Amino acid sequence: MIWLNGKVLPLRKARIGVEDRGFQFADGVYEVVRIYNGRLFALDRHLDRLERSCAGITLPLPVARDRLAGQMEHLVARSRVRDGMLYLQITRGEARRNHVFPKTAATVLFYVRQVPPMEDPAKSRGLRLHAVRDDRWNRCWIKSIALLPNVLAKNEAVAAGADEAVFVNEGWVSECSSSNIFIVAGGMLITPPVGPKVLPGITRGLLLELARRKGVAVVERPFSEAEALAAEEVFITSTTREAAWVSHWNGRQVGAGRCGPVMRELHAALVERISAETA
Ligand code: PDD
Repeated sequence: MIWLNGKVLPLRKARIGVEDRGFQFADGVYEVVRIYNGRLFALDRHLDRLERSCAGITLPLPVARDRLAGQMEHLVARSRVRDGMLYLQITRGEARRNHVFPKTAATVLFYVRQVPPMEDPAKSRGLRLHAVRDDRWNRCWIKSIALLPNVLAKNEAVAAGADEAVFVNEGWVSECSSSNIFIVAGGMLITPPVGPKVLPGITRGLLLELARRKGVAVVERPFSEAEALAAEEVFITSTTREAAWVSHWNGRQVGAGRCGPVMRELHAALVERISAETA
C-alpha cells in the first residue's frame, strides 16, 4: 500500500503525472526510515532532516509534521511489516513544465517495504569500496532525489567488482554513494563533518552520540584517502545497513581484515538503542 496525497491505495495502482516536477526536474526530497518491531525508528530525527531538506529547496512542508507522522505510523501498522523500511518522497508537484516554481500543490507519498533483519555485521564479509571523484553539487546536506551522481558512482563501483563507491575529492574523503563513512586511527573515531559534500546521516548522528557516551574519542574532521588506507578500522553507516565494516579500498586491504572492536561496540550500542526505542 502507498499513501499518496492523502489517499491509501495499492502501490501498483498509484500514478504520478508526467509533468510532476520530481520526474522532470528531480525537484524534490526524500527520506528512508527503518522499521523495527513494527515501529518507525528515529522518526523525529528523520522528520527534522526532512524539514531542513524542504527548507533547503524552498518548499514548505506540505503536510503538517504531526499529521504526517501519524499517517506514516498508521500505514506501517496497516502494512503489518515488522522489519522493513518506509520510503517517503516530496516533490514540488505537477504543473506545466517551467523552471519557475509553480503554485500547485506538492506531491507527497510514502510506502512500506519489508527488509530482512540485519545479521551480526561482525559475521558478515567486509565491504569493498571503490573511490570515485566527488563531482556532486555543494548542497549534499539536502536529501535531494537528484541522485544521478550517486547512481553513476555506485555503478562504477559495482562494475569494478566493489560493493560501494566512496567519494574522494583531491585526496579528501567525503562519504559514500548511499552511506556515511568513519575511520578509526590512533584510537580516535573520525568522520567528515556534515555540510556541502556530506549528508547528515541519521545513523551517523546516532553513532557519534553513542560513541561520545561510551567515552570513545571522537573528532569530526575531513580525512584523506591515505589516512583511510592506513586506518585501524574503516566502516560505513546508513539506515538500511546500520553499520558495515570495510575490508578493501580500491582492491587494497584496509584495517585488520576483520570487523574492528570500535565498530562492533558501537553497533552493539545501536542495536540496544533500537530495541529500547521500538520494543
Ligand atoms: N541513503 N549519505 C548518503 C549520500 C545517503 O544516501 C545516505 C542514506 C546516507 C546515510 O544516511 P542515513 O543514516 O540517514 O540513512 C549518507 C539512503 C538509505 C538511501 O538513499 O537509500
